[in-house]
Amino acid sequence: MKLSMAKRETINQTMVTEFILLGFKTVPELQIVLFVVFLVIYVVTMAGNILIATVVLSSHHLHKPMYLFLGNLSILETCYTSTILPRILGSFITNYHGLSFTGCFIQFYFFAFLAGAESYLLSAMSYDRYLAICKPLYYATLMNNRLCVQLSFVSWIIGIVASAFTTSFASQLIFCGPNEIDHFFCDYTPLLRLSCSEIQQTEMVMKVLGSACTMPPLLLTLASYVCIITTILRIPSTTGRSKAFATCSSHLIVVTIFYGTLTIVYILPKTSTLKDLNKVFSVFYTILTPMINPFIYSLRNKEFKDALRKMIGKLVPLRITQGIQRQQNIISQ
Ligand SMILES: *[C@@H]1O[C@H](CO)[C@@H](O)[C@H](O)[C@H]1NC(C)=O
Repeated sequence: MKLSMAKRETINQTMVTEFILLGFKTVPELQIVLFVVFLVIYVVTMAGNILIATVVLSSHHLHKPMYLFLGNLSILETCYTSTILPRILGSFITNYHGLSFTGCFIQFYFFAFLAGAESYLLSAMSYDRYLAICKPLYYATLMNNRLCVQLSFVSWIIGIVASAFTTSFASQLIFCGPNEIDHFFCDYTPLLRLSCSEIQQTEMVMKVLGSACTMPPLLLTLASYVCIITTILRIPSTTGRSKAFATCSSHLIVVTIFYGTLTIVYILPKTSTLKDLNKVFSVFYTILTPMINPFIYSLRNKEFKDALRKMIGKLVPLRITQGIQRQQNIISQ
């Protein structure tokens, strides 16, 4: 960023205009298998998350903060996978692994925006569970619709703004080759490694913004769960305890997977073994987490399962009766 004009101009001639995402290119024997696996993952993720959002929006029983947050999380996950998977699938088909300079930063922008928003949304969900379990008497007054709307809105805005800053800093970096990124999407660590400008300042900004997006929500989530778990342990009856735990266990699993993989990828020191494993863990939090969230919620939550059954029940008999009517029409003709 602090290059003189002259230096900038000489570099301009060899500037990188496109990046090659090596990603899974290094294992050519597995291309077809990987393509099929990722395609299935993509379809399941989209279907599962869209189904959750539809059930939440269409069922009046689920118009409560906990489920409205869940609906938002599902929409977020749909967008999140869509910033990463379609490009991977496309590159398997075309066997072309390039991504333009602009394309790379657009991907980086959406990835950072959605990850930041998810982190805040998950902490809003923990706060909701904290109020429900630790302050049950005040839950209805504290977690009203207005607060729910505000918390969801703020989560999205924080993601949008923080990512705009990070991306504008990152896009000012100068890249003069090589242009091969050993990753399957434009993430900031591999991008910084390729830059030939002074990266200290940018790295600082990235670290500060990255921590601002993950640390406060993580601490809030941890604090909520400390209170939740101590409260649950104080419940005298076993059934009462497991009932209270059931209302937050899905969320606890999702939060643990999200922050667990983020910690491994971004916070642990980059030893050589970990560096190789980084790609594997990145697959976890960018591709697998969005897919398993719907399963964790829909399979473990009775209220949600009931709403889903009702929605299917409403759709299915309609078709059957329509079918019978059509048959009767045919017979009577
Ligand atoms: C997202 O949250 C807002 C505010 O709570 C809510 O009005 C909206 O219905 C939610 N969206 C989904 C898909 O659940």
